[in-house]
Amino acid sequence: MKKKNHVLVTGGAGYIGSHTVVELLNAGYEVTAIDTLERSEIAIIEGVKSITGKAFNFQKADCLDLAAMQKIFSDNQFDAVIHFAAYKSVNESVERPLLYYKNNVGSLMVLLEVMKQFQVHDLIFSSSCTVYGQPDQIPVDESAPFKKAESPYGASKQICERILEDAATEGIRTVSLRYFNPIGAHPSAQIGELPIGVPNNLVPYVTQTAAGIRSQLTVFGNDYTTPDGSCLRDFIHVCDVASAHVNAIKFLQDQKSEKIFEAFNLGTGVGVSVLELVKMFIQVTGVNLNYKIGPRRPGDVEKVYADPKRVMEGLKWKAKYDLGQSLLHAWEWEKKIRGLS
Ligand code: NAD
Ligand code: WQD
Repeated sequence: MKKKNHVLVTGGAGYIGSHTVVELLNAGYEVTAIDTLERSEIAIIEGVKSITGKAFNFQKADCLDLAAMQKIFSDNQFDAVIHFAAYKSVNESVERPLLYYKNNVGSLMVLLEVMKQFQVHDLIFSSSCTVYGQPDQIPVDESAPFKKAESPYGASKQICERILEDAATEGIRTVSLRYFNPIGAHPSAQIGELPIGVPNNLVPYVTQTAAGIRSQLTVFGNDYTTPDGSCLRDFIHVCDVASAHVNAIKFLQDQKSEKIFEAFNLGTGVGVSVLELVKMFIQVTGVNLNYKIGPRRPGDVEKVYADPKRVMEGLKWKAKYDLGQSLLHAWEWEKKIRGLS
C-alpha cells in the first residue's frame, strides 16, 4: 500500500497554518498549501522554506472557488487535508456576520464536496475553545456542552463541527482541534503572527506596546472572581498547536473505521491570568511594559482553560513550550518585523 504522505493545507500562509507546514515538512510529509493571501503575506511562505530548507507547493487559491479546488484536487493526490482557512476576528464577525458564515462555513462546504468527489477522507479541522463559551466547569473537557455562541465567529465554528459530525456518515473522517489561545512564534523568528490593524488579541498587543507601536496596554478588568481579578486563559505556543496536527493525521491514518468525528481540546491545561502574563513578559524580555487596568471588555469569558487529558492520550501529544518561552518567541518575532535589535 502507498505510504500516506501528501497533505493539503488550506490557509497555509496564515499564523497557525504556516507553523503547521513547518512541522509537516520536518516530519517528512509532502505539502501543498493554498491561501488567498488576503490576510497573510507571501513572505511567510518564504520563511517556511528557509526554516525547513524544503520546497513545497504553494498556490494562491480561494477555498470558496469550487472550480479552483477541483483543479487542485485533480492535479494532486491528497491523503489528508488540514483546513485552517477562515476569518477569525470576533469583533469583525459581529459587524459582518454574513461574511463570516459565507467564508467559514462556505469554505468547509466546498472542501467537503471536493473531498467526496476525489475520495479524500481524512480532515483536520481548526476549531476553537470559543465553542464552549463560559463553561460551567473548568478545566473544561470535550464533553462540556456548547453554550449559545457569543459571536457569529463562534457560531461558525459550532456549525462547522456539527456539519463534520454529520459528514462522518458520508465517509469524511474528522479530527476537530479546539485551540485555546495560541501565542508565540517559531523560535527562529522567521515566521509568526501578522495581525491586521490594531490587535484584539492580548499577546500581539503586548508585543506592539513593548515595541512602541502602541502607547499603552489596557488590561480589561481586574474585578473578576479569579485570584488576581484578571481573566484566566490557556495560552499555548503556536509550534505546540502545529505539532498536534501531525499527530492528528497519524491518529486518523491508524483508525480502521470509515466513520469518525473526534474533537480534542488543544491547550496546556494551565490557567494563566492576564496580569500574570504581563508580568512574565516583563520578566523574560527585560522590557518594561506600559499598562493600565481598564474596564471589562464586553463578551469576555471570565476563565477558561483546557483539560488536555484526551488530546495527550488520544493523539500522544504534549505541549513542549512554557509561557516564558512562548512570550520570548513572540517578542523575538515582533523585534524582527519592526527591525529592532
Ligand atoms: P490567520 O488569519 O492567520 O490564517 C488564516 C488564513 O486563511 C489567512 O492566511 C487567510 O488569508 C486564509 N484564508 C481565509 N479565507 C480563505 C479562503 N476562503 N480560501 C483560502 N484562504 C483563506 O488565522 P490563524 O490564527 O492561523 O487561524 C487559523 C484557523 O484557526 C482559523 O480557522 C481560526 O478560526 C482558527 N483558530 C484560531 C485561533 C487563534 O487564536 N489564532 C484560535 C482558535 C481557532
Ligand atoms: C485574552 C485575554 C482579554 C487584549 C479570542 C477569541 C477566541 C479564540 C482566541 C479564535 C482576555 C485580555 C486582551 C487587550 C486585555 N480565537 N486582553 N487587553 O478573548 O481569550 O479569545 O482568541 O478562535 O475565539 O475570542 O483572546 O487574546 O483577545 O484575550 O486585557 O488589549 O486578554 O480581556 O481576558 P480571547 P484575547
